[in-house]
Parts: sequence; structure tokens; C-alpha cells
Amino acid sequence: MVSSTSQQKLALLGGAPVRPKSKAFPKWPFAGPKDAARLQTVLESGNWGGYPFPNRFASEFQKAFAEYHGAKYAVCVTNGTSAITIALKAAGVQPGDEVIVPAYTWDGTATAVLDAGAVPVFVDVDPDTYCLDVAKIKVGPKTRAVVPVHLAMRFTDMTALRALARQHGLVIIEDCAHVHGGEYLGEGAGSMGDLGTFSFQSSKLMTAGEGGIILTSREDCYELVQTLVNCGRASETDVYGKRLAGGNYRMTEFQAAILIGQLEMLPELADKRVAQAAMLDAALAGMGAAVSPLPPQREITRQPIYNYVFRFHEDGVSRDLFCAALEAEGIPCDGRFYEPVYRSDLFQPTAQEFPQIQHINYRKDYDCPVSVRAAYHESVWLPQFELLNAPDTQDVIDAIHKVSSNVEALRRCDASLAGIKALSRAERPRIEKKNY
Ligand SMILES: Cc1ncc(COP(=O)(O)O)c(C=O)c1O
Repeated sequence: MVSSTSQQKLALLGGAPVRPKSKAFPKWPFAGPKDAARLQTVLESGNWGGYPFPNRFASEFQKAFAEYHGAKYAVCVTNGTSAITIALKAAGVQPGDEVIVPAYTWDGTATAVLDAGAVPVFVDVDPDTYCLDVAKIKVGPKTRAVVPVHLAMRFTDMTALRALARQHGLVIIEDCAHVHGGEYLGEGAGSMGDLGTFSFQSSKLMTAGEGGIILTSREDCYELVQTLVNCGRASETDVYGKRLAGGNYRMTEFQAAILIGQLEMLPELADKRVAQAAMLDAALAGMGAAVSPLPPQREITRQPIYNYVFRFHEDGVSRDLFCAALEAEGIPCDGRFYEPVYRSDLFQPTAQEFPQIQHINYRKDYDCPVSVRAAYHESVWLPQFELLNAPDTQDVIDAIHKVSSNVEALRRCDASLAGIKALSRAERPRIEKKNY
């Protein structure tokens, strides 16, 4: 349902906002009811680190997380980026190997590949899911692995990807940084590939401020992950007896203690988000030509919603100006959540740092039009804390309706009003700190 906001003057042009600043959205992240007691236990134990490995709370958490996602094993790590690098090494990716990565993702998905000594090869995304377009993958003689990213609230077509991987002997490392608790055709996120990785960085659906975890059901990979995370030491089981040079990527007990509470809260919060997302889907579908929801993905059997993403259809008004207008109505949102990584100013690797890319010029060698359209013209990202109760969602709907039915007014206004929303992500943190 949409309230009658469409006739009112846009807040960007001096009107009253749909949601005044005094009406704050719930403050993210949420702490669980038993967090303080668990943290106190860690504090008093004097046993704060990740050693002995895995330590008490890390061990409890990783078992519960693996079980919830239908994987046999889990290993806690420092963050989601190192989780990908470690997973690639554990899966046997060698220096110089090529690894397929979607062009539209967080830059860390690709830098993790570089850190493993391998070469990220970008492939465009599917226009309906913004996830890796499996049909566009070209397997070459050096292709060894694929890192599908399940983005925002959608999954990569894992049926097609697994068939392709089987055909060509590729390993799959699922980057699940956005899809904690999600399920695709009855299988848990991170349990469909050879290994799956998650991030617990501050913005994520489960967070300890920082942190990550690796899932796998392959015992050989499980052993190697433990060795890589725990300074090269033998794994708990050591059936395979294989040794690799490891680092210290262990999670602290403070993080693990928090994450136990985060996992306990996940199902209830996920249900709330799903209900609000359904309300948004229905409202956007009937709102006219300027906006539309992403098409539903029938294969999803447990819906994750990291950000709610919808489409703005540019017609004389830029997506960035639309986002600026929505934000002026009191609805935090983002258009430039990600850039196509190969042209992102946060991704400028040199051959000095990474000799394996000496013949590659990412900016010149790649063109992924669907990713470009999503990043610069079409996608609008709403953070998950806006989707927890019906009154908040109603404000979001009213604001989108107000702005999308006033695009004519935006068409006439100065595009520079888009201001900060159109800046590159490298510049924004500096400026945002100054302005907000
Ligand atoms: C898709 C994706 N992959 C990887 C990462 C890296 O995780 P982290 O920030 O924990 O290193 C993130 C999070 O920022 C992400 O969003």
C-alpha cells in the first residue's frame, strides 16, 4: 500500500521529508541477550585468543554454524577476505592459475584471488540476479576455480555452475559474505561448492565487528584450512598428513562469543526481513515505470536479505540523483554500492605486487555491460536495518513512491544535487566524514 505522498514537494528540492531525521532506523548491529555474560566469561578466563586452536567458543560456534548451513566442517578465521584466499589455497589453486570472479562484487573477492597468487578473470553478471552469469564463463587451459558471489539477496545459478565445474574439473569457492543462513534448492549457502566463505564484518547479517568462517564437507580441504589458519600446524585429525606454510588467521574468543549470539538471533531477524521484503516487492511492482523489483528467484528456499536491491530505470534522471532524492526523504540508500571491480578505484593491483598479472591491464581488457549498468545506472541498495518492521518499510515505500512519481521535477533540477552519491568510493569516506 502506498500513502498519498506523490503530490508533495521532494525533500531534495526543499519539501518536508517522508521520514524526518528524528525518526531513526534501528541501530545496527544488534547484540544478543547473552552476549555480555559470554564476553565476561572470556574476559575472566584469561584465555582470549584463538589458541589452543580451535578454542572453546570458536569451537562451539563453528560446529553450530556448519550444522545450520548443512556443511560437515567449519573453521573460524580473521575476516572474509582471508577466508577466500585460504579456501583457494586449500582447494589446490596454484600461483598463476586463473580464477573466475563476477565483475560486480566487493573488490575483496578479487584481491583475495591475487593474494593466493592466482589471476582473477572477471565475468559479467546476470541481469536478473546481479550474480555471476554462468553462461558467460569461458573456461581456458589455466582456469582452475570459480568464486561465485551470492549477492545481496540472490544466489548464483548453482545448478548450472556445478555442472560446468564437473565438466571441466574446476573447484568452486562460494563467497557467501551476503547470505548468512540462506538456502538454495534446500542446500545451505556455502555448502554447495568445494568450500564456502563468509564475512562477519560490521555491516553483515551476522557480525563480530570483523571475522570470517570457511565451510567445507571435504575432509582433505578441512585439514588444509586448519593448517593454513593455524601457522602451519597439523590439523586435529591429520588423516592426509599434508603441510602447507600457514599464517595466524585465528579468530579471538571475544569474536566467537559474540557470534554464538548472532547465530541465535539470525532466524528471527531473517523472518522479519523476508516479510518486509515481500511488502516492498509488492509495492514496487505496482509503482510505475521508474522502479521495479528484481524478478523472484524460485530456487531460493531460505531467503537471505543483506541489502534489499531494486531497479531504477533511468529516463533523463540519473540513478545517482534518484538515490540522493531518496536519501533526502530520510531513507539511507546506495547506488554505487559496488563498481565493476576491474574499473574500481579500490582495485589497482600492479605487476610489482602481483607478478602473475604482468600481461593484464584490467581497465582496458574488460567490458562487462550488465555490471556497468547495475553499478552506475540501475541498482538501488537499501540496508537491512530498514526492513525490520512494517512502519519502517511503509516509510521506505512512501519515499520511493514519492520520488519515483516526481522524476519530472528531478529532470528539471541541477544534477549536481546528486553530489556525494555520484562520487567514487575511494573519495567518499573522506568526504562523508566531513559532511555527516
Ligand atoms: C562479497 C564480499 N566478499 C568478501 C568480503 C570480504 O569480507 P571482509 O570484509 O570480512 O574481509 C565482503 C565484505 O566486505 C563482501 O561483501
